[in-house]
Amino acid sequence: MIQTIRGFRDILPGDTPLWQAIEQTASRLFEDFGFKEIRLPLIEQTELFARSIGEVTDIVEKEMYTFPDRKGENITLRPEATASVVRSYIQHKMYAADPIQRLYTMGPMFRRERPQKGRYRQFYQINAEVFGIAAPHIDGELILMLNELFGRLGLTDLTTHLNSLGCPECRPLFHRALTEFLRSKHGGLCSDCTRRMDKNPLRTLDCKVPGCREAMLDAPTTLDHLCSECSDHFDKVKEILTRQEVDFQVDKTLVRGLDYYSRTAFEVQTTALGAQSAVAGGGRYDALVRELDGPEVPAIGFAIGLDRLAGVMEQLQEPVKTRELDLFVIPLGPGALDQAYYCCSRLNLAGIRCDTDYSGKSLKGLMKRADKLNAGHVLILDMRKSDNKESATGAVLRNMKTREQTTLSMQAPDMQVPYDEIIKILTDKGMPRD
Ligand code: HAM
Repeated sequence: MIQTIRGFRDILPGDTPLWQAIEQTASRLFEDFGFKEIRLPLIEQTELFARSIGEVTDIVEKEMYTFPDRKGENITLRPEATASVVRSYIQHKMYAADPIQRLYTMGPMFRRERPQKGRYRQFYQINAEVFGIAAPHIDGELILMLNELFGRLGLTDLTTHLNSLGCPECRPLFHRALTEFLRSKHGGLCSDCTRRMDKNPLRTLDCKVPGCREAMLDAPTTLDHLCSECSDHFDKVKEILTRQEVDFQVDKTLVRGLDYYSRTAFEVQTTALGAQSAVAGGGRYDALVRELDGPEVPAIGFAIGLDRLAGVMEQLQEPVKTRELDLFVIPLGPGALDQAYYCCSRLNLAGIRCDTDYSGKSLKGLMKRADKLNAGHVLILDMRKSDNKESATGAVLRNMKTREQTTLSMQAPDMQVPYDEIIKILTDKGMPRD
């Protein structure tokens, strides 16, 4: 039997209602905040990710699915979406029409990490990215929007971690202090950290190796080295969040796993998923548009991990109900099959969830099936008495909850089911029709 590859999984019909509810809540909220949806390819040139996420990061060094295509060009299954959104912003010169763009996108990402609970090799993100606004208000707005989304989804047990990573002005000072500190710990660090010490010292701060964690406890922090502009920016973001009653906690150890960030960095964390605690992460990337050969445009965004968010919600809440069947049509007698088919398709087109059964089973058998499908109503089309349409007994509509029954007469000339009457009865009973 052929099965999914390790780290890949199917999202089955029992789970998709929750995913759809999250996606719909997010897109409605984001659109209220002025975001527009963008859809992007899953494969990009490898160089796009190497140049944006950074050569000396776990993602680029070890986790990307990179292949030469048939012409030898290196292509990569996207490990994240921000680089692609920036590529698209530049490629389509969106900045020429208006440098300010609020974009969101949803879809699968691919990272060859070690699979575990909450960590998959194909996982899904909802991304929101804003271009063209340098003011700290937009940092506040994005974090507010993210928190509002989690609130609307009924999640309260989450913490927003906030840090500032400085800018090209103040980062070199911090790097120098950090490199000096790392030299003093030399020998006590893992091989990755020793290698990264000079090339990308910031990465040593989120090393998960216990020995390194301990060694880094009193490492210098970005917050102690911010220039006055970065410091003012950070203060303003904190002020805005406090005033809007968004809970956050300043986390000096938060550095994020991608290199493009400057100033604000944030992560929403949960305790519900064990080691995989981040359900969303993001930050400013003011230099990235320029670095990918676009104009000087500041930007900020975040990505929510949909698998993790759904995982937390599954643990906390009742499952989201699938839409129930409004009507089950029971055809009795061979002549009733066609009528049942036409009836169902007509009602489906009118927005009523309707189904039937062509097996020729008895009334008892089909009532059992109606129960199994949890049908709100059944329509019994009894045409057993004769093949002569004229003498059909007619149709009986039964409400399965109240047991209330309505006898409907078939309509001449060809004994059609009275669709309009059925639609009226079902919709008057508050059946969903959207
Ligand atoms: P990230 O922190 O790498 O950021 O990923 C964002 C979220 O995706 C994580 O918080 C997590 O919920 C989810 N995630 C990441 N890897 C996995 C995995 N292997 N399995 C399941 N879920 C995962 C970014 O990707 C940035 N592009 C975010 C961003 C947008 N920054 C600015 N704009």
